[in-house]
Amino acid sequence: MSNSRSSASPVSRGRNRVLSDRSTGDRAIAERADSERVIVLDTTLRDGEQAAGVCFSVRDKVEIALRLADMRVDVIEAGFPAASSGEADAVSAVARAVRGSTVCALARAASCDIDAAGEALRDAEQGRIHVFVNSSDIHLAHQLYKDRDDVLAMTRAGVARARHFTDDVEFSPMDATRADPEFVEAVVREALSAGATTINIPDTVGCVLPHRLETMIRALFERVPEVGEAVVSFHGQDDLGLATANTIAAVRAGARQVELAVNGLGERAGNTALEEVVMALRVHAVDLGVHTAVDPSGICGISQLIEERSGVAVPLNKAVVGGNAFRHASGIHQDGVIKWRKNYEVLDPAEIGHATGSEIVLGKLSGRCGFAERLRLLEIELPGDSFGRAFDAFQIVADGQGEVRDEELRRICSAAAARETESLQGDTRERSAG
Ligand code: KIV
Repeated sequence: MSNSRSSASPVSRGRNRVLSDRSTGDRAIAERADSERVIVLDTTLRDGEQAAGVCFSVRDKVEIALRLADMRVDVIEAGFPAASSGEADAVSAVARAVRGSTVCALARAASCDIDAAGEALRDAEQGRIHVFVNSSDIHLAHQLYKDRDDVLAMTRAGVARARHFTDDVEFSPMDATRADPEFVEAVVREALSAGATTINIPDTVGCVLPHRLETMIRALFERVPEVGEAVVSFHGQDDLGLATANTIAAVRAGARQVELAVNGLGERAGNTALEEVVMALRVHAVDLGVHTAVDPSGICGISQLIEERSGVAVPLNKAVVGGNAFRHASGIHQDGVIKWRKNYEVLDPAEIGHATGSEIVLGKLSGRCGFAERLRLLEIELPGDSFGRAFDAFQIVADGQGEVRDEELRRICSAAAARETESLQGDTRERSAG
């Protein structure tokens, strides 16, 4: 299902008019002409940095943004300039450094925020202002203390003000998935008529179910047909572990921008993981009929960089980039992978720039096949019957520990080979004595 965007829409012709001299660049027009292209907005530097305890320096932000641009991420959300002067400086530094990707700055629907974002993006080749306002009754009553009419007015004024700085304006009705759908539609209409070019649906507390989200986005296209002139986007949070599934559901419904963060870094349980969505869209490209421009070979490198700079460790079992993602421990899986990698791997580690590739890990569940393969890789040759001895000795060791490492394996094999030699010598002595 595609978002019926038109390459000839007035919106696409005017993108980034103020912030960039290449405002009506081929890239923006091509993007919008290609309804099968999913735009990737990376928010590691903005929502990712909202993970408790994380603070990227200006240097970190520039280094990470350049790496994202190298990977052909379309939009890099660099920060929230109104938050502090350091944050504003970091967004400006990213805006100056990045070429080829759009640099985005977040702003509440308030003049001071929008002006700070516009100022921080002054030197961007392509700049976007992302304006948001609360939209659920929960937030209106318990956080914003404003009514629906106030929110409509803030939306109109906020988007219009952002358009003074750039004609690439994203608008988000925050907490949209818990809001009254009719009110979300009204806010979206207001944002579009004020000039928003991307409409983002945020699942702010990570609570929506994939099929409900799909219905919600399809209904938005039906009930607000003019949204087809903009790019519809989805921003997921992972509170229920559904962020990736929800993002794919949004794409199925016609969303053509996805908001992601490397390693799923972000507030509380995190954002939707970039590596998961990019690879899911690649693996299921035929089924979903869409693609991104992201170069997957940078995935492992950027994952390590974010792990280092954020100080947030990637769990071993994390999809795509976890340390165990290509390590096989059970005998049946080892046998299958040795025969044909794809028996037990859906991703090719080489495609995502994985340094070591698939690995056979020896432990108590390993069989003779995995054991023999590991010896082959270590170039260990065992004479006579010593393979059987070595395997038996290995199993005794493996029963008492998780992983039998290469040094231990070498020791087991040398001992088995030595015993084999001794027993052969013993046989020879017995034969000579006889
Ligand atoms: O989670 C959220 O709702 C956001 C919006 C600002 C997009 O981060």
